[in-house]
Amino acid sequence: MGKQEVNKHTWKMALSEQKERKPEDILRDFRASFFSMNRLASFNWTFLDNELQSNKSSEFISELLKQTCLHPLCGKFPPSVRFRRIFLSELIKREAAGCDPLDELYDALAQVVGVEETPLCHKSYFLPSGDAVSLLENVAVISEGTTGLVTWEAALYLAEWALENPQVFTGRSVLELGSGVGLTGITVCRSCSPVRFVFSDCHATVLEKLRENVRLNGLGGGKSPSVTVDQLDWTTAPEEQIRRIRPDTVIAADVVYDPEVAGSLADLLLKILKCSAAAEILICSTIRNPETYGGFKLRLEAAGLGHQVLTGPVGAVFPYNRLAPVELIKVFRVQDA
Ligand SMILES: C[S@@+](CC[C@H](N)C(=O)[O-])C[C@H]1O[C@@H](n2cnc3c(N)ncnc32)[C@H](O)[C@@H]1O
Repeated sequence: MGKQEVNKHTWKMALSEQKERKPEDILRDFRASFFSMNRLASFNWTFLDNELQSNKSSEFISELLKQTCLHPLCGKFPPSVRFRRIFLSELIKREAAGCDPLDELYDALAQVVGVEETPLCHKSYFLPSGDAVSLLENVAVISEGTTGLVTWEAALYLAEWALENPQVFTGRSVLELGSGVGLTGITVCRSCSPVRFVFSDCHATVLEKLRENVRLNGLGGGKSPSVTVDQLDWTTAPEEQIRRIRPDTVIAADVVYDPEVAGSLADLLLKILKCSAAAEILICSTIRNPETYGGFKLRLEAAGLGHQVLTGPVGAVFPYNRLAPVELIKVFRVQDA
């Protein structure tokens, strides 16, 4: 089975499993989707509708509220005001049609009605341990001229892959290129025991948010792993900077989207392999434009680099759109193959 088929297969399995899911699983799914601000259309409203139809009780909605708007995490790291308002409106619509009024639902709505919306929000992604990676992100997908202030599907895909392949990171020095707000790197630091992790990006606001998110998740400050957030531009990074980091593993998610910088990125990967011959390089991409992606692979080839497509994650940890085609490749020097 190819990479994309595996991802679609995982998703189909997840959908078929939905039918057999117990109420506590559904509550966990709602919690995960709510805190990561997943598309509301992807929530399992059918289960809720069936539940209300069969027992006419507001009990399940009350439990749902405890796992979402009334969860302690929502007090600390709340999803956007707008998202919470729309989510609660969906619940009220269903409650009004199917059971007795629930006071706490209207109290929760009162807290978000009339509240001014800000360009920032928190998103939280639950790890298999039950802990959450909480990030400060932008509400808009593109803002301040960068795509780096939100978490992209490829970052979640790569984080899931890392959770299933911790040996690629354990005891190693890891460099992440184009870290954005930090989901993949923070997941690796929290779950895969690297000795050192260097987050990097080129955009000033992205670096500022990244530093904040690293702090928010309890990383750095002399604890293990040793963590730094570096300014590293693929187009200008001096060899000396790479030599200083000397990574064992290099990761990057959703960095192949601009044909203009594809060549610089390929040259940088070659530079890394010249400094650290044994470095394992993993690039995870959402293929939005096959021409752009194919162009990057040609630039790799021109730089004397080969690639191998890796099998993606088998389990679904985070909620995200799994129909987007994502590919994970390992990059190596052809002469070393
Ligand atoms: C689509 S975002 C992906 C962010 C994150 N890896 C994710 O998948 O959620 C691309 C990231 O690459 C960074 N980037 C773009 N061009 C860059 C360059 N020349 N040097 C370093 N980082 C760059 C952007 O600032 C942004 O954070």
